[in-house]
Formats: sequence, structure tokens, C-alpha cells
Amino acid sequence: MRLVVLVSGSGTNLQAMIDALHQGDVEVDIAAVGADLECAGLDRARAAGIDTFVVPLSEYPDREQWNRALQRRVASYHPDRVVFAGFMRIVDAEFVSVFPGRIINTHPSLLPSFPGAHAVRDALAYGVKVTGATVHEVVADVDAGPILAQVAVPVAEDDAEAVLHERIKSAERTLLVNALAKLSWDVTSTDPDLPRS
Ligand code: GRF
Repeated sequence: MRLVVLVSGSGTNLQAMIDALHQGDVEVDIAAVGADLECAGLDRARAAGIDTFVVPLSEYPDREQWNRALQRRVASYHPDRVVFAGFMRIVDAEFVSVFPGRIINTHPSLLPSFPGAHAVRDALAYGVKVTGATVHEVVADVDAGPILAQVAVPVAEDDAEAVLHERIKSAERTLLVNALAKLSWDVTSTDPDLPRS
């Protein structure tokens, strides 16, 4: 299963995928890692010898043109799946329609609770005792697509946002790798053109 992974930050979810594929735990090929800005995630990809690209929003006159540029760049790698692994930009409906049912996002809450960019902060502010992470298909609405996998994570009394987010990310990395392993099995067992184990 050929992937393009998009990142915006530290890239620990990407690293978990790289480690899993090096260990033979998941049969994927990361064709490229893209970002909307220079970030540590890109360095992790470069260190693993993976092709990288950056499509900065600031270099385009508007979001529409940025979406088209990002879409063309991703499509040029002919991915079976596009993985948003801490990619902090919202893509438009046309972008989603080019890769129907083939974009996967990981989100640090138990969706449909706490969608959006501040999921961990919002969960803490609400006072939930359990939160978690969700791997889901991307649709045109933000954080709203079909759920592929979830994991619950307890919230401690005195949790700061960063502490809770780290606890979630630790579970989220395993969740994402396992979800991709399952998907890669489904893809390779239904597509006669893809290699099988
Ligand atoms: C993850 O919790 C992801 O769900 C959220 O941002 C975090 C990215 O972490 N959108 P990393 O860059 O993979 O370390």
C-alpha cells in the first residue's frame, strides 16, 4: 500500500509508521512526506531516506490555489492512501474528492467529541474523565468521516494539556500503525496489481 503522509509538527506518528515498516510490522511504502511548512516531521522523513516536499500556504494567493498545488503534488505520487499525521491544515472538498475514501486522519480525541484544532484543551476544559484518539476517513466536513479505529485514554486529575496530549499520542501512534496494517492487508488482498506477502 503506497502512502503519502502529510505532517505539520514533530512527526512522532510518522516516526511510528517508519519504525513499523522497518520492523516489517506493516506492509506500506511511504512514497513521500509532505508538509505546509518546514517541521521536524520532514527531518524524520529525510533521515529515513523518504522523498519530501513543502507546499507553504504563504506562497499562494489564496487557499483555493494552495489546495490545488498540494493536491497535484500528492497525486503525483499515485498513493493508495494519503495519511494526515498531525497535518494541521484543512483541505477543501475538491481535494477530498480527488482521493475518495482514501484519506486517513488521526485526531487526539474520541470523535465525534472534541473535533477541531484544540481537541485536548477542549476535552480538559469540559472535564471529561476519559478521552482518546481516533483514526478516521477524511470527508469534506472537518473531523467527521467514518471511524476506522479508536482508543480510550484516561484523564488524570491534575493533567496539563501537554501531559495529556503526550499520553494520548503514545496510544495514538499504536492505533495509527495498527489501522494502517489492517488497511494494507485489505488493499493488498483486493487489488491484484499490488504485491502480497
Ligand atoms: C497528534 O496528536 C495528532 O492527532 C494531532 O497533532 C498531533 C501530532 O503529533 N493533530 P506528531 O506531529 O505526530 O508528533
